[in-house]
Amino acid sequence: MTVQDNKKKRAANAALRYIEDGMVVGLGTGTTVLYLLQAIAASKINILGVTTSKKTTVICQQLGIKVTDIDDVDHIDVTIDGADEVDTYMNGIKGGGAALLMEKIVAKNSNKNIWIVDDSKVHDTLGTFPLPVEVIPYGSGRLLRKFEANDFNPVLRVDQNHQPIITDSGHYIIDLHLGDIINPQTLADYLENQVGIVEHGLFVDIVDIIIIGGDSVTLKERQ
Ligand code: A5P
Repeated sequence: MTVQDNKKKRAANAALRYIEDGMVVGLGTGTTVLYLLQAIAASKINILGVTTSKKTTVICQQLGIKVTDIDDVDHIDVTIDGADEVDTYMNGIKGGGAALLMEKIVAKNSNKNIWIVDDSKVHDTLGTFPLPVEVIPYGSGRLLRKFEANDFNPVLRVDQNHQPIITDSGHYIIDLHLGDIINPQTLADYLENQVGIVEHGLFVDIVDIIIIGGDSVTLKERQ
C-alpha cells in the first residue's frame, strides 16, 4: 500500500465514528470511499446505504452492506464521500470518478456531509484539479466551443478507446482546466445558467466536516 493509500485509509477509518446502527448513510464514490466501505463491513455496524454510483452499489453488494434507493428513504442521516480537491473555505471539487451528479443529489438531501481526503487534496484555492462538468451529449460540442471561447480549457473526457465516457445517468463529462478559481460561487452560478449542463463538480457550502488523512488525522468543521 502506498503512503497516499495509507492516508486515505486513515481518513476513512476515522469517519466510522460518525456512523451508528440503524442510520441511513449516503455512500460516496472512489478509492477513499472503498476503504470506508471495507471498514463498515468489517465493523458489523448495521446501516442502510444510499449509493452515489453503480460502482459503489456493486461494492456494497459484494461486501454485504444493505442499500436502498434514495426515493425509498425519508431522510439520510449522514453522507460520507471523497473529494478531488478542497480549499480553506471547505469548498470542493468532485467528479473525478464521474459520479458528481448523484453525489450532489445525495449530498443535498443529507442532514450532514463528511468528506474523507488525503492531505494532498487540500489547497488554499481550488483549481489545481480540473473541474468536471456533466453535460447532455446533444449539443455538447457547442458547449465545448463556448468553454473554449471563455478560456476554460475544456477537455471532453474519453475512455481508452477515445470514446466519450458515459456517466451512470447517460451524460458526458467535460473537464475544465481553469487554474485558480478565485470565486467558486460566481463560477457555479455561471455554469448553472448554461443550457445543456446537467451539473458541475463545484461543491460550495455543502460539507460540514472534512477528515484529512496525513501522518495523523485532522478534522475541519464548518463553524
Ligand atoms: C467521484 O466522482 C469523485 O467525486 C470522488 O469522490 C473523488 O474523485 C475522490 O476519489 P478518490 O477517493 O478515489 O480520490
